[in-house]
Amino acid sequence: MTADDVRREAAEIVKQTRDFLEAQQQLGVDFVPGAPEVAKQDRPQSERELLLSGTLNLGEIRQVLGECTRCKLHPHRTQIVFGVGHSQADLVFVGEAPGADEDAKGEPFVGRAGQLLTRMIEAMGLRREEVYICNVLKSRPPSNRTPESDEIASCEPFLIAQLKAIKPKLICALGGIAVSALLKTKTPLSKLRGRFHDYQGIPLLVTYHPAYLLRNPNEKKSAWQDLQLLQKEYIRLTGRPLR
Ligand code: URA
Repeated sequence: MTADDVRREAAEIVKQTRDFLEAQQQLGVDFVPGAPEVAKQDRPQSERELLLSGTLNLGEIRQVLGECTRCKLHPHRTQIVFGVGHSQADLVFVGEAPGADEDAKGEPFVGRAGQLLTRMIEAMGLRREEVYICNVLKSRPPSNRTPESDEIASCEPFLIAQLKAIKPKLICALGGIAVSALLKTKTPLSKLRGRFHDYQGIPLLVTYHPAYLLRNPNEKKSAWQDLQLLQKEYIRLTGRPLR
């Protein structure tokens, strides 16, 4: 069954239930006793369950996302920015949210911060096409404001599904929003960077967001130290030399 079939089936069940209850109401029924517990295997799968099941590939996840209107950001965006790169990448970079350039192009990290990220990836001895790049949010917040918690929550199943589909050996969280969304912590990034953390069994490195590095170039040295750690672990886990 495809993701579209599941969506159609769920919508049909909701419609039939609503029609039934409305018909009952017109007949004067104003109380429906609780339905008996339905065995889990017989319940239609919710969209969230489907996304978290780890059974969808990137194309199917994109299809489920559709022309998303799940949060209040949709009227502000030009297009969804889903993710770019290798569908079985060993390394995934997760940023915050699309900016103006990404919103215009439909691709993450293509503006000034993106060009710095590309140089960071190349400095590690990799090419942009070899890794996967995505954001916590798939829609641009107006005027690039900080993502809000309801927006992060509504996009979260899609990020989780992307990571489950790719199954990377390493994740690099860029900046505080990616760190808090993935590690569920409020600890400041400065205290988390420079070492690996665990994300669902996958080593996750925390480093500064490239946009922050553009504003604070003196932190580039620390970011490069982080990337060297990432590079070493990449070589160890993939068995592939870099450069
Ligand atoms: N900043 C991000 O966090 N993501 C992008 O895609 C671009 C800028």
